[in-house]
Amino acid sequence: MVHAEASTFTDGLTKREVYAQVLEQARTLFEGQRNWVCNLSNTASLLYHALHSLPSPLNMTNWCGFYVLDPKTPNQLILGPFQGHVACQTIAFGKGVCGTAAETKITQLVPDVETFPGHISCDGNSQSEIVVPIIQGGKVVAIIDIDCAVKSGFNSEDQASLEELASILAESCDF
Ligand code: SME
Repeated sequence: MVHAEASTFTDGLTKREVYAQVLEQARTLFEGQRNWVCNLSNTASLLYHALHSLPSPLNMTNWCGFYVLDPKTPNQLILGPFQGHVACQTIAFGKGVCGTAAETKITQLVPDVETFPGHISCDGNSQSEIVVPIIQGGKVVAIIDIDCAVKSGFNSEDQASLEELASILAESCDF
């Protein structure tokens, strides 16, 4: 049984504690459920509420969600479940921060989006961004994308936790 409290995060927890709760809740939510739309939707909610329970800069997260492989066009991502303002519908591999993560299979930690060549500005408020590939059977099947309305929103601690989340998603979802 899924409860709304799964995405309730107490104020005052450390970043480490908050990510630990995200990972634990994600594992619980995915028990007996492998549908990617369902699991990525609940994960977008978990991440959005988790990050907003933390002090600045993470409470300045303005977009968090997913792009998945576009089933109709090779080497293209298409918008998946997210929280935030409406966003670009498709992104080619190699384009922008998302397409770079998809093409290289490497997390893109971008402290200042203005310095990232080819950054795609979906939401003009975004100033920093992290994109983590979700890899299944050696192939990128989706990416996690989080934008922050201030510079240097994310660091290596976010990267490590989000990479762990990506690996749980890869194991737990049928894409
Ligand atoms: N900034 C991303 C585009 C997606 S939005 O941030 C939601 C990029 O450069 O790929």
